[in-house]
Amino acid sequence: MKRTHVAMLAVAGASIAMATMAFAADLMGKSQASPIYGVTLPDGYRQWELIAPAEEAAPLDELRVVVGNAAALKAYRSQSLPFPDGAVLVKLAWKRKPSPEFEPATIPGAASTVQVMVKDSKRYAATGGWGFGRFIDGKPADEAQHRTCFACHQAKVKDHDLVFTRLAP
Ligand code: HEC
Repeated sequence: MKRTHVAMLAVAGASIAMATMAFAADLMGKSQASPIYGVTLPDGYRQWELIAPAEEAAPLDELRVVVGNAAALKAYRSQSLPFPDGAVLVKLAWKRKPSPEFEPATIPGAASTVQVMVKDSKRYAATGGWGFGRFIDGKPADEAQHRTCFACHQAKVKDHDLVFTRLAP
């Protein structure tokens, strides 16, 4: 009898420990990696430098901004391709909204997605050296969505190291 109790306590203890670890990993953002690539939202990207704005017409109707880390900006400025390992590009998007203060102006409405490209030529050798991540409300999108990234970037901008956005003049 005693032994079974001890065993049961041990099992209960172990599952509590595992649940706590999962919770901690969640808090630390460890379980927030994109499927296929394991890309996470980079720290501090809201403070990164602007590469260029973009927008897309209906039905998406989005305002976008592409920013990059220091390694990415250095590559843009020196106009050298391919981008070096460690370069990270982030595209933020919002629904387009007319300004309530001045009708012809457009302002960002609700945030829609944050998309990330991380250059690591070894880890992502199969996808042109880039790992992709798409996040909605801070959570990674599903695997099916991640299957589309490389295909489109590869088909359209193969000669620009899979990157569409050019440094705004
Ligand atoms: C159908 C084509 C298409 C697909 C699919 C696509 N992208 Fe893009 N992506 C673009 C275009 C076009 C741009 C240029 C900016 C813009 O117009 O929004 C872009 C820009 C980007 C950028 C900024 C760097 C750059 O290349 O300009 C990132 C980061 C990005 N995409 C990530 C992703 C991720 C992650 C996925 C998959 C979840 C994805 N993209 C799927 C077309 C696509």
